[in-house]
Amino acid sequence: MNNRVAVLHGVNLNQLGRRPSAHYGTLSFPELERLIDGYARELDLLPRFYQTNSEESFIGHLHRLQGMVDGIVLNPGAWTHYSWAIRDALEIAQLPAVEVHLSDVEHREDFRKVSVIRDLCVATVMGKGPEGYREALERIKREIPA
Ligand code: DQA
Repeated sequence: MNNRVAVLHGVNLNQLGRRPSAHYGTLSFPELERLIDGYARELDLLPRFYQTNSEESFIGHLHRLQGMVDGIVLNPGAWTHYSWAIRDALEIAQLPAVEVHLSDVEHREDFRKVSVIRDLCVATVMGKGPEGYREALERIKREIPA
């Protein structure tokens, strides 16, 4: 069964719980990953979690994903807005991907309105908090042949 999904978090996401709650809520990062794990299992998906604050490590991880997973759900944090290197690595992975943001990046500072990965992703979910990951997983499941 093709059901393996990489759930990738980028820079500063491991600091959830210490970030502005108006945008990010109050869950800690381990709590968020546990919640996502539950959503994935309800959907018969097998999540493979990864978080790093190192852009080099994030790119290296993307390079290794082909053949390891069937799809990607990713929240690269601030890298979303400017990392052409992560965009290129996502393109190299050649896997269906969904972009997720906890906060509503379209209605915050202008720099957050730019996403350099958006056109490589089949969908973007933003501003729905942790619940947005359920939607992202449902969406990626539709892209994975049974
Ligand atoms: C974020 C939004 C980004 O603009 C920000 O830099 C983050 C988190 C989100 O989940 O809302 O670190 O990706």
